[in-house]
Order: sequence, then structure tokens, then C-alpha cells
Amino acid sequence: MYGFEYTTPTKVFFGPGTEEKVGQILREYGASRVLIHYGSGSCVRSGLLDRVIASVEDAGLWCCQLGGVVPNPHLGKVREGIDLGKRERIDFILAIGGGSVIDSAKAIAYGLAEPDLDVWELFEKKRKAKAILPVASILTISASGSETSNSCVITNEETGEKRSYNDNIARPAFAIMDPELTMTLPDYQTQSGCADIMMHTLERYFTRSGSMELTDAIAEGLLRTVMKHALILREDPSNYDSRAEVMWAGSLSHNGLTGCGNDGGDFACHGLEHELGGMFDVTHGAGLTALWPTWARYVYRDCLPRFVRFARNVMDIAPGASEEETALAGIDALEAFFRQIGMPVTLKELGIDPSEEEILKMAASCARANGGRKGSARVLFEEDMAEIYRRAR
Ligand code: NZQ
Ligand code: ZN
Repeated sequence: MYGFEYTTPTKVFFGPGTEEKVGQILREYGASRVLIHYGSGSCVRSGLLDRVIASVEDAGLWCCQLGGVVPNPHLGKVREGIDLGKRERIDFILAIGGGSVIDSAKAIAYGLAEPDLDVWELFEKKRKAKAILPVASILTISASGSETSNSCVITNEETGEKRSYNDNIARPAFAIMDPELTMTLPDYQTQSGCADIMMHTLERYFTRSGSMELTDAIAEGLLRTVMKHALILREDPSNYDSRAEVMWAGSLSHNGLTGCGNDGGDFACHGLEHELGGMFDVTHGAGLTALWPTWARYVYRDCLPRFVRFARNVMDIAPGASEEETALAGIDALEAFFRQIGMPVTLKELGIDPSEEEILKMAASCARANGGRKGSARVLFEEDMAEIYRRAR
């Protein structure tokens, strides 16, 4: 087991109706002027936004709102939020939504804490943040894990670059998780979310680290749980227990727990997907499933024991004639599962058909964003990245 640092300071309020006390909780955290940040309108249509404003005002706090965050959130909206936050002397940002809104909130919070600096420099890895304003969320989609993660992913819509910046100071102060709030999601978003949750654990599982028995057991249990409940939600989207299991898995999958003792994880599929998101604006979880089977078949020989373990412990594959056969059967089984929950397993199924020129551009950009190499199961270089995009078509 490798040494690690594990910090997960976000306080979680989990259960039906927890959003009703958001005003009181914000007061306890010392908020006085709150920016409520949200997306393209789902929380307006459901009435959640009005209930949150009422709770915040009942607690005696001042608030203003900024909506309009899109999936693969834009730098332009972040800049708008920073300008608004400066004008209104905001001291706390509350996100209502999923990864896109929470990440936009985190980026605004970085910008407000260091108002003289350009926030995009963080995502270009030109500097490290010294401070951030407090952020919290009311989660409405189980997927990104941003509600407890240290990560923030923003797209520069002018250049088509989707970039992440990770820093423990960005872990939110608290997260309100009411599984009932996710019942209005379209099936495609529910399932993309389940896929993303699985991928956050898979990215940490397929490494060439040594023994991490407990972490592996947690990861395998999490994967099996999400698979079981993703299938139930396909038939029964209002199933509270399944919504709750998936929501809790979403946070545990990306708060660092399933990576304790590894070498930092692989995360090649995330790196490759971020280019698809930046260039083609695809749904993040679906972009990941469109790449994973191709990536897995490209790298499995370099990480064979882990692929065999995955096949046996997660996909229930009986041992084949060789370890290779068992590993490949495990990959086939997960690919079939992704299909079963309506997720694409090729770029064509994702609805895109990148040209050779676009593939080379994405591979170059992915390599540049990751210092020339990415991965642990197998280290990928620019030419490997291009080849995975090609084979995923
Ligand atoms: O904007 P609204 O109208 O709310 O609609 C959203 C959006 O269209 C909708 N939605 C959310 N809750 C809903 C709902 N519709 C009906 N009922 C509800 N209760 O769902 C759509 C997707 O929302 P989004 O926030 O984009 O989803 P997700 O949570 O999957 O976030 C994706 C973003 O997070 C990034 C991704 O790259 C992508 O940009 N990630 C962030 C991470 C992090 N910060 O730790 C890690 C992840 O790996 C990921 O990269
Ligand atoms: Zn993800």
C-alpha cells in the first residue's frame, strides 16, 4: 500500500427534505451575503430555487442569484459570476445542481478570493491558488462527486479547452444531499451519472500499485452497488432507496476514499473525455463509456492482474483458460452493462465522428494538458491517445 493523504472535510446532510434547512446551515457557517448559482432551469421548474431562497431569507441572510450554467460549464459564466460577486460583496457561494454548477461555483470562488488574478491561469497550471471563498451545494444529480471532491473542471468556450484544477482548498464546506431531488432527471442523465460514478472508482482501481486490500474491497462493493441500482432506476426512476445508494456512492467514489493506497490512479479516460467535452460538448459520463472499452482493450495486458481481479470480483466472470481470456471477458461484460443502461460504447454511438485532423488535435491537447503522458495501468503518450480515439470510432 502506498502512503497517502486523505482529507474529506465536507459536512454531509443526507436525506429527504434536508434542503429546507439550508438557510440555517449557511448562518452556522458564517455566511451573510450569498450567491445562489444554478443551471439552465431544472431547479426553477421544480420549485427548488424558490424554496431555497425562502429558507435563506428566513434565516436573515441576503442573497442574489446567477443562473445559466451549462453542462461543460463555461469560463464566460465564471467571469460573469466573479464580476457579480465583487459588485455585491459576496462571502459564500451556494450551488444548486450537479458537477457543472458546483464547478462553476468553485471557479467563481477562486476568482473572488484573489480578485486581481486571472482565474483561467489556474486551469492552465500557471499558478496555484492561495485562497478560495467558501462553497457549498444542494446536489440535484448524482454523478461528478464535485460536492465533496477537490476538483473543478471548466471549459474555455473560446478555445474549446476543457481543463481541470485540483486543490484541497476547493472541497466544499457542506453538501445537502436529498435523493428525492434527483427523481426529475431524464433517464439518460441518471445513467450517465451512474457511469461517471463507476468511472471515478475504475480510474483509481486500474493502476499498477501494489496491495490495497481494503481499498479494493470498498471499490468493488461500490461498483457492484451502483450497477445494481442503475438497473433498478432504469425501470423504476422513483425508487428512493436506489436514488439514495447512487447518491452516496457518487460522493464516496470521488472524495478520495477509493484511491487510498494507490499511486494516484490512472485517469486516462477522464483526460481523453475532457477533450471530447471541449471539442464536441458531449455529456461527460457518456463520453467516458464511449471510450472505456477501447481504452481497456488497449491497456489490459500491462495491468493484467487488476483486470483479472475486476473480472472475477466485480463482473462475476468464471476463470477462463488463461488470465488474458478472463480479463477480456470482464471487459466485454462491462461493455455489455454500459449498453444495457443505454450508454454509448463507441464514439459513433455517442453521436460524433471526429476526423483524423480532429483526433490529432484532441490527442495533442490531451498530451499538453497532462505534461505529455497520462495513465497508470499503462502510461499513454500522444500517439497512444490518438490511437485510442481512432479505435473508439
Ligand atoms: O442545468 P439544469 O437545468 O439544472 O439541467 C441539468 C443539466 O442539463 C440537468 N439536471 C441536473 N439536476 C437535475 C437535472 N434535470 C432534471 N432534474 C434534476 N434534478 O442535468 C444536466 C447535467 O448536469 P451537470 O451538472 O452537467 O451534470 P454532472 O453532475 O454530470 O456534471 C458534469 C460536469 O462535471 C465535470 C464534468 O466534466 C462536467 O463538466 N466533472 C467534475 C468533477 C469534479 N468537479 O470533481 C469530476 C468529474 O469527473 C467531471 O469531470
Ligand atoms: Zn467524471
